[in-house]
Amino acid sequence: MPDHDPPPLSSTAPRDELFATPAAGNNDFRFDQKTAAVFDDMVTRSVPLYDEIQRTTCELAADFAVDGSNLYDLGCSTATTLMMLDPVVSPGVRFVGVDNSPDMITKARSKVGSAGLTRIVDFKVADLHDEQLIENASVVVMILTLQFIRPLLRERVVQRIYDGLNDNGCLILVEKQTMESSLLNRLFIRYYYDLKARHGYSAVEIAQKREALENVLIPYRPEENRALLHQVGFRHVEETLRWYNFAAMVAVKAS
Ligand SMILES: C[S@@+](CC[C@H](N)C(=O)[O-])C[C@H]1O[C@@H](n2cnc3c(N)ncnc32)[C@H](O)[C@@H]1O
Repeated sequence: MPDHDPPPLSSTAPRDELFATPAAGNNDFRFDQKTAAVFDDMVTRSVPLYDEIQRTTCELAADFAVDGSNLYDLGCSTATTLMMLDPVVSPGVRFVGVDNSPDMITKARSKVGSAGLTRIVDFKVADLHDEQLIENASVVVMILTLQFIRPLLRERVVQRIYDGLNDNGCLILVEKQTMESSLLNRLFIRYYYDLKARHGYSAVEIAQKREALENVLIPYRPEENRALLHQVGFRHVEETLRWYNFAAMVAVKAS
């Protein structure tokens, strides 16, 4: 196996049945204790190509990470990515996991504690809307998190990432996106719900989760994400993976 390949993903999380029962009223989706408990099952059954997203993140991060610098995972949830990155990134790189959900960070700490990583991971409960957290970074990972940042503040958050990266550092960004063509948008969303059905979610679960995410997850179009990255200063921006309305990108801060 090449050096950059992390071990295969495995999850022992309980099955995600958060939206299985028809609920009264409209509740916005929250990354709370109930979500944290089933998150690893939810994400593998809800995100297309999730294991390939993690694998390519490891590949890129291993090549961009520099000893003596920091690697951040923004919106680290239960630390799945940091645990995948640990065996493939040089031990001289410090890992920082950031999430504004204390329940996610509790779960992340417990998973990392029992996995026996090669380094100590610094976990921070912090809101990306509020503070500049990035310094001396060679790699910033942001998987399916920018889409939860309020559009008005998105450019400021991405600017802070750029400012906190060292020259030749990279941002690895994964986002759910919306399409300019309403026809393609409708089709891509249908294919996505078909994928969720294939992964065992019922029509009720799919519909209720969609409603819960409506005011919380605001996707940008591919060209908006690309423009945002260039606007804050990233010189090289490339798409690395694409599945209909999901895309992974790498953006490099070149001197
Ligand atoms: C879809 S999950 C990320 C999945 C994870 N990166 C992975 O690869 O499995 C989004 C995460 O971002 C966190 N989040 C959302 N808004 C945030 C904010 N403003 N500041 C910090 N974390 C945030 C949520 O608590 C959640 O854990």
